[in-house]
Amino acid sequence: MQRRLLIPAIALAAPLGLASPAAAQGTLNLYCSVQIEWCQAIATNFNRDTGIRVNMTQRGSGESLAAIRAEAQNPRGDVWFGGTGDPHLAAAEENLTQAYESGNNAALHPWALTQWNQSGRRAIGVYAGAVGFGYNSELLARKNIAPPTCWADLADPRFRGEIQVANPNSSGTAYVIIATLVQLMGEEEAFAYMRRLHPNVNSYARSGTGPIKAVARGETGVSLSFVHDAVTERNAGFPVAYNTPCEGTGYEIGSMSIIRGARNIAQARRFYDWALTEPAQRLGFEAGGQLQQPSNRSAPLPPNAPDLGRIRLIEYDFAKYGRAAERRRLIERWDREVGSLPR
Ligand code: F6P
Repeated sequence: MQRRLLIPAIALAAPLGLASPAAAQGTLNLYCSVQIEWCQAIATNFNRDTGIRVNMTQRGSGESLAAIRAEAQNPRGDVWFGGTGDPHLAAAEENLTQAYESGNNAALHPWALTQWNQSGRRAIGVYAGAVGFGYNSELLARKNIAPPTCWADLADPRFRGEIQVANPNSSGTAYVIIATLVQLMGEEEAFAYMRRLHPNVNSYARSGTGPIKAVARGETGVSLSFVHDAVTERNAGFPVAYNTPCEGTGYEIGSMSIIRGARNIAQARRFYDWALTEPAQRLGFEAGGQLQQPSNRSAPLPPNAPDLGRIRLIEYDFAKYGRAAERRRLIERWDREVGSLPR
């Protein structure tokens, strides 16, 4: 699913009695892989701050990578904002994005710069978030099912048909989950585990946030999700809680890249610099209701956001699992051995 939004600078400038600077400032084609509320907030605020007109397209991380790859000979996007870090690393390796050094790098947490260095300066961290289990506390209580606390719990028959997770072909979240299980258990055991889990999974959603939204609506009891997305649903008033796995869990470095051959390179660099500033990074929570850990050290962790320092994280091997061939191999294996299994 793609969503497009055009922010005309004139509509925003006119009520203030300002002459529109849009014609002089030009246009930015923004590919956005965070939730739509945040994408809209950055498009609107960047336009307001700079006068640059923004054409925004929102898609999942895997879908954005596929689009950028398909358009490589004739790039239509300028910047890819957000989405899990692994496909940004794959894009860098495939020469689909270009190197850039922002003057704002010094303001960032080290993990954001690790991503930048590992990608040959092509992808930079804009936020981080950990994988866990979201659940509908009312639904599970009504069914008398104890919430999961460990990966081992999820394969239990009590969760038959109760779990949702996304499809790794379209969703970066789902790929982080597969890579996490492979790193925790070893590849053979991880695939055996995912096959055991399969009867408990009622649907493989297209988007990484689809399963937690289904939890919020009471359509499924449990989701495998980034735990910040569980807090977003709880803040919206739904009976959603989360646990992080007792055995340890993986995490994302949500990233940003400038697309190789970007037609609007000056606007792309301006957006990239802007997106690393503290005020821009506050927008994730303040305008978009999102609860990731921002990469700018001055941007506060939003209230009640999961604190990564208190979660048992694995040493996620971004270099290995961000490699294009490894990503492709694991997703193809998942398609063959898990996604296509009958229930
Ligand atoms: O915007 C919420 C979020 O969970 C981000 O933290 C993450 O990078 C993105 O969604 C991943 O979306 P998808 O799994 O659909 O690629």
